[in-house]
Amino acid sequence: MDKFVIRGGNPLLGTIRISGAKNAALPAMAAALLTDEQVILENIPQVRDIETERRLLASMGAEVELGYGRAQHRTTIRCAHLVAPEAAYELVKTMRASTLVLGPLVARCGMARVSLPGGCAIGARPIDLHIKGLEQLGAKISQEHGYVVARADRLRGGHVVFDKITVTGTEDLLMAATLADGETLMENCAREPEVGDLASLLIKMGANIEGAGTSTIRVKGVQRLHGARHRIIPDRIEAGTFIVAAAMTGGDVNVTGCDPEHLAALLNKLQEVGVKVRHNGESVRVMGDGEFKPSDMSTEEYPGFPTDMQAQYMALATQAEGASVITENIFENRFMHAQELVRMGANIKIEGRRATVRGKTQLSAAAVLASDLRASASLVLAALVAQGETIVDRVYHIDRGYEHIEEKLRGVGAEIKRIGEMFPKRLSTPAVLV
Ligand code: EPU
Repeated sequence: MDKFVIRGGNPLLGTIRISGAKNAALPAMAAALLTDEQVILENIPQVRDIETERRLLASMGAEVELGYGRAQHRTTIRCAHLVAPEAAYELVKTMRASTLVLGPLVARCGMARVSLPGGCAIGARPIDLHIKGLEQLGAKISQEHGYVVARADRLRGGHVVFDKITVTGTEDLLMAATLADGETLMENCAREPEVGDLASLLIKMGANIEGAGTSTIRVKGVQRLHGARHRIIPDRIEAGTFIVAAAMTGGDVNVTGCDPEHLAALLNKLQEVGVKVRHNGESVRVMGDGEFKPSDMSTEEYPGFPTDMQAQYMALATQAEGASVITENIFENRFMHAQELVRMGANIKIEGRRATVRGKTQLSAAAVLASDLRASASLVLAALVAQGETIVDRVYHIDRGYEHIEEKLRGVGAEIKRIGEMFPKRLSTPAVLV
């Protein structure tokens, strides 16, 4: 199992280019199931979750070509003949976003069999809202042997009101509704940029959608969708992670190829704690001096502060002079990084969904264990300012969602290297979900 060895203390200086958004690429690939024509996706990040989704689509009979050379971020998908509208447990257990195929499969094939995700590292993450929504569109749902089975000759338009805001739930239903008979009204939808990006792709494929990016979306179903070419939006969480890294290390970094509008909540918070941030059309320059004021933060749905940046903000809060209270409102049990930060010397108390971080602490290097994707990122950030050499174990979590993170960090002056186990054991696929 690979590890990162990181020697802290270097300010990050230079330019980092941001990759395409994993969480926009995953639904876009699922959307290709809605048509028998070719869908070409540009700016697909080379991360492990994309490979998992490629395997998932291929297992159903899709032809998925990942580009190489200069076209390494292009993926071409053609779902001309789907042989098995099914997402098996082996894949769903390693990537919960596999449930995104449920809506498109039932809409296109009239039937879908998708494994229930099961246990999850960041709290209970049920899919009841996906199921309830599909039922509103006329699907008959049953549960058999750990699988959700959805059937509908043709979905029909309906009125879906999400009890709770769900990102992939909104995306799943949006895809299903594009091929339904009649109009679907969806309320209390997620407003994340990734939902808007999916809608742009679907519209290019011939879908009739209004309101994506707001909490009310209207979809007029069409008989069929066709092929399209689409460029995935930049990854706002990858950008946010590097922005926090630059600030924490007292560096000066230009984060390019991102969309600063998608980062507004984070950039406002950073300005509040004293980080100098300048942005223009598609880049953010961050200048840190290593001095931070404490500031409380609560995670919220977009456009609020993203839960996917909570762990990274906690690492930064260990460097602020005073107490910052961090409230995690989206997921229960998403503080697993806190205990590892404490092992590096941080002063963090957890009470339910609230973490109180008291700084400033000179972190000291330790051997730490990554527990999920964003938790791993926070440990890397902490290591960049810690005294000594930190070893971050289980970096397969980070490989799920960050493209070549160590190369990008090395490019701006970080001392980080990847080491593999000298005598690797045979490992089964990690069963932890993010
Ligand atoms: N929820 C339900 N029932 C459902 C669906 C969700 O109760 O049927 C609850 C969840 O348990 C959670 C809340 O609703 O408490 C929000 O969950 P949501 O469905 O929005 O999360 P998700 O769609 O599974 C996506 C991202 C996550 C990100 C969350 C929140 C993708 C592939 N994943 O997950 O990204 O944390 O939205 O913004 O888009 C990551 O990239 O590290 C990651 C975990």
